[in-house]
Amino acid sequence: MTVSTEHLAIDDQVQSLLFVEARSPLRFSRRPVDPQTVRAAYDLIKWGPTGSNAMPLRIAIAESDEARAQVAAAAAPGNRPKVEGAPLVLVAASDVDYHELVHITAPGVVGLRDRLAATPERRAVNAHDNAWLQIGYLIVGLRAAGLSVRPMGGFDKAAMDATLLAGTSWRSELMLAVGYPAEDGDQGVEPRAGRPAWDDAARVF
Ligand SMILES: Cc1cc2nc3c(=O)[nH]c(=O)nc-3n(C[C@H](O)[C@H](O)[C@H](O)COP(=O)(O)O)c2cc1C
Repeated sequence: MTVSTEHLAIDDQVQSLLFVEARSPLRFSRRPVDPQTVRAAYDLIKWGPTGSNAMPLRIAIAESDEARAQVAAAAAPGNRPKVEGAPLVLVAASDVDYHELVHITAPGVVGLRDRLAATPERRAVNAHDNAWLQIGYLIVGLRAAGLSVRPMGGFDKAAMDATLLAGTSWRSELMLAVGYPAEDGDQGVEPRAGRPAWDDAARVF
């Protein structure tokens, strides 16, 4: 695969790791994934921008057998074996009560917490939209930590929220099967599909 790199500020190796060679695998190495590695990825991507610095992304790490079983139970049947076979499963969520942290994310804005507290519907939209923006950063951040990621949207969100995320203000958005790349290079996926070319994806107005 070739990319016009003349205008990029990262070298070929980083381009490959983050995008050009990075796939959404179904097979991984058996090497376990330390949640501290996910933490390192978060500590990198938390600097990505969100609207009003809302930062609503939350990451549920399904490490225990019980948590993994809850994620698998909520998964669509076709995704269940993918969840069960992954070295580590994350559930990316949005926090509808992100306003509880505005003393950190927007310390200079007087009265913001109370204004947001009074508008739960607006908060839910903001949380959802900005969490999805951060999920994009997270996928790239996990790749930067040497991990491969299979994102999966096919699951019962109400069931996930009522089990794994019960008692929290977190709303599930996307499951992520995470692991190190399989040593034999077989990622269990078909040859890569294309992407819209520049001329299809961009227009100079
Ligand atoms: C938001 C989102 C939802 C997805 N949902 C599923 C899913 O439910 N099940 C699945 O097997 N793959 C799912 N995928 C994986 C995509 O099909 C895959 O990332 C895409 O085809 C690109 O593949 P590549 O990275 O190997 O080129 C999802 C990916 C994203 C980003």
